[in-house]
Amino acid sequence: MPALLSPDAPPRASSQQHFELRRFDAPVGAEVIGLDIAKPIDDAAFARLHRAHLDHHVLVFRDQRITPAQHIAFSRRFGPLDIHVLHQFHLGDHPEILIVSNIKKDNGEPLGLGDAGAYWHSDISYKPEPSLGSLLHAQELPGEGGDTLFADQHLAWEALAPALQQRVLGLKAEHSYLAKYEALRAKNPWRPALSQAQIDKVAPAVHPVVRTHPETGRKALFVSEHFTTRILGLPQDEGDALLAELCANSVKSEFVYRHRWAPHDLVFWDNRSLMHLAAGTPDALRRKLYRTTVRGDAPF
Ligand SMILES: [Fe+2]
Repeated sequence: MPALLSPDAPPRASSQQHFELRRFDAPVGAEVIGLDIAKPIDDAAFARLHRAHLDHHVLVFRDQRITPAQHIAFSRRFGPLDIHVLHQFHLGDHPEILIVSNIKKDNGEPLGLGDAGAYWHSDISYKPEPSLGSLLHAQELPGEGGDTLFADQHLAWEALAPALQQRVLGLKAEHSYLAKYEALRAKNPWRPALSQAQIDKVAPAVHPVVRTHPETGRKALFVSEHFTTRILGLPQDEGDALLAELCANSVKSEFVYRHRWAPHDLVFWDNRSLMHLAAGTPDALRRKLYRTTVRGDAPF
């Protein structure tokens, strides 16, 4: 016989939300069906989400009508949030949100970071404690283009020839935000000049070329064409050749999921398992997304 609730017991399961997971026909990624981020998520549902994120590396929540504050609150359940160095592109009173957008304001200034992710990378790998994951919420989407690609770096590691695995295991590499900044700025002059205070916040960091995921224990490649500048202990030309070989291997099509954005999508990916790339938007079309970035641990 089921236990009876006393009359003053809290309403049972009022905050429970049931959801399903549908794995994509791709190396990574799953859709979370039936969960409304704007509503309370109890600990059991959150634990399932956490597990799904570790298993699939990319979670897609469709049609999320959430405010910036709700976006931030949901992100914070996974850890403290990073504040992006380009304060020029923070969202108003919410510095936890970086505006990713190619839209220009009436005065001609950029609304957001317009060329974010134009190269394969893992978010803020240039910091001593790179990101656990990022959450990108669609605000305005172009009629064509604007896809985001995700490449599984566990599969990239596992696919390396054993001799190459032996060669790179134990190597360390430098990651720098500044190394390509001026080149990007020359190409996209709307990028703001960095103040000394901003430069001081993004001193280069050194990380293992092969990292171990702190929650699953799986190994993953952790170098990118965008932020990785050199491999320590190797002559620059030899290191460059090795980096090029690793980066070319990292983004083979068999490791990649291509996300085609739908209105109000929220996409949450694991920066410890994946690299990602913004495939580009035609200049004449408007695209705007809000990003939060959850801080992670120092890679080992
Ligand atoms: Fe990114």
